[in-house]
Amino acid sequence: MYPVLRNLLFRLPPEQAHNFALKGMDIAQKLGMLGLFSRHPAPCPVNVMGLEFPNPVGLAAGLDKNADHLDALGALGFGFIEVGTVTPLAQPGNPKPRMFRLPEHQAIINRMGFNNEGLGHLVNNVENRRYKGVLGINVGKNKDTPNEQSELDYRKGIAAVYAHADYITVNVSSPNTPGLRDLQFGDSLKQLLYAIKDEQSRCHKAHGHYVPVAVKIAPDMDDAGIRFVAAALLEAGLDGVIATNTTISREAVRGHRHEQETGGLSGAPVRQASLRVIEGLYAELGERLPIIGVGGISDGASAAEKVRAGARLVQIYTGFIYRGPALIGEAVDAIRKELEHLKGRAR
Ligand code: FNR
Repeated sequence: MYPVLRNLLFRLPPEQAHNFALKGMDIAQKLGMLGLFSRHPAPCPVNVMGLEFPNPVGLAAGLDKNADHLDALGALGFGFIEVGTVTPLAQPGNPKPRMFRLPEHQAIINRMGFNNEGLGHLVNNVENRRYKGVLGINVGKNKDTPNEQSELDYRKGIAAVYAHADYITVNVSSPNTPGLRDLQFGDSLKQLLYAIKDEQSRCHKAHGHYVPVAVKIAPDMDDAGIRFVAAALLEAGLDGVIATNTTISREAVRGHRHEQETGGLSGAPVRQASLRVIEGLYAELGERLPIIGVGGISDGASAAEKVRAGARLVQIYTGFIYRGPALIGEAVDAIRKELEHLKGRAR
């Protein structure tokens, strides 16, 4: 069913197709017809960051920035859903067009720029959700907030979503907010991580329960950068790391007519770069800090290889656009086999 629908959707400009498909899903879900598009994967329960996931395949951040479509997306069989990136204040993002398809590469380039309705809108949506599954909320900073004050935006984000999230993601890796990715390095990172932990402890005391916080990083990081991030995350006591966001590299799509578009490249061309970061992180972290693998998952094999490299959970975005809900079950089945294989080897 999805390939037919996709042919129709791909005739529209990408952002229009995106909005149209999500609204259509909301209607189908209300009419109880979403089952036509999705088959619920057989369970593959995993426990990560102290949370029970029905399966390890989640929806990555950015597809439902405002949690406007949580109930429909939550009915497709994902093991968890991450909404956001949400910023304290609503902001329009970059001028359109800002999303481009590269079907020859099963890829997307986007420079959305954290277009979202702000914390108040998202919190209202998640408070009123029917979705009962695991919910991650991804927080960022407003474009107009200078980097020196970014800590305050992250604190506001954590404080506002704490009561509603199963886990919180701190996004310091979008290429579409000027200067954001500088927060992944050196003293800026250490200072931010300590502020995040401080805010988490404050909320822990205020709410009486612990909500894990993960940090999402970019694939465009050299080996020393990966080692530094791993050490800083351990030192500050973060709960997880999400690897990776989109890449600014165009190596894999040279000569494509959209090659020159500014923004982050996702889908198949980021697969190897994300895998390299996961392997690098796992070499440093081992089982001490869980890795959530994301970037270029387009089939069972690309999902399983992330688990083999050390990821405990995976997320998908671009592959979901190209393949539809069938990819969820395919990824879960492949990971289940991989986990059995790994268990067999450990014996
Ligand atoms: C994203 N991604 C993203 N990530 C994030 O942390 N916050 C965000 O707001 C967004 N927004 C966003 C918009 C669009 C159009 C795309 C394609 C991607 C990144 C996404 O969550 C994921 O990390 C990367 O896309 C790599 O995974 P895939 O797409 O290759 O499966």
